[in-house]
Amino acid sequence: MKQSSLTLVALVLAIGSASAQQAAQPSGNAEHGKTLYRETGCYQCHGLAGQGAIMTGPRVSRTELPLDAFVNQLRHPANQMPPYEAAIVSDRDAADIYAYLKQMPVPPDANSIPLLKVAR
Ligand code: HEC
Repeated sequence: MKQSSLTLVALVLAIGSASAQQAAQPSGNAEHGKTLYRETGCYQCHGLAGQGAIMTGPRVSRTELPLDAFVNQLRHPANQMPPYEAAIVSDRDAADIYAYLKQMPVPPDANSIPLLKVAR
């Protein structure tokens, strides 16, 4: 009895650490995500750099949403965004778009762009 419960504990720990490793690994293919982001039309509202615009959609570059919340926004948009069912954007494709958005570069500081400097 004692032996079998120890085996069970070891099994649970092994499964737990395997799924923790999986969660830590980047799962999506960012290069494919870039293609999908353009072909699916996300860029039309969120911009080619994911920068967003007041009238069309918020910034999505380096999204802080967890992957499941990101997929949920695609399937059941919060407000005005059109829904993307799995037949249009599969979970795999959504993970690729997510990976693409996550690796987007941080934009330069506004003060480092001469045109944006206010003359004093
Ligand atoms: C027609 C315009 C439009 C298109 C196309 C569109 N979105 Fe959106 N998106 C929005 C708007 C507007 C919101 C704000 C919330 C809402 O209306 O659901 C939003 C919200 C989001 C959010 C949540 C942002 C946040 O941090 O709250 C994500 C992520 C997102 N969109 C990703 C995508 C992806 C990926 C695609 C392509 C598969 C896409 N959107 C296509 C308009 C659009």
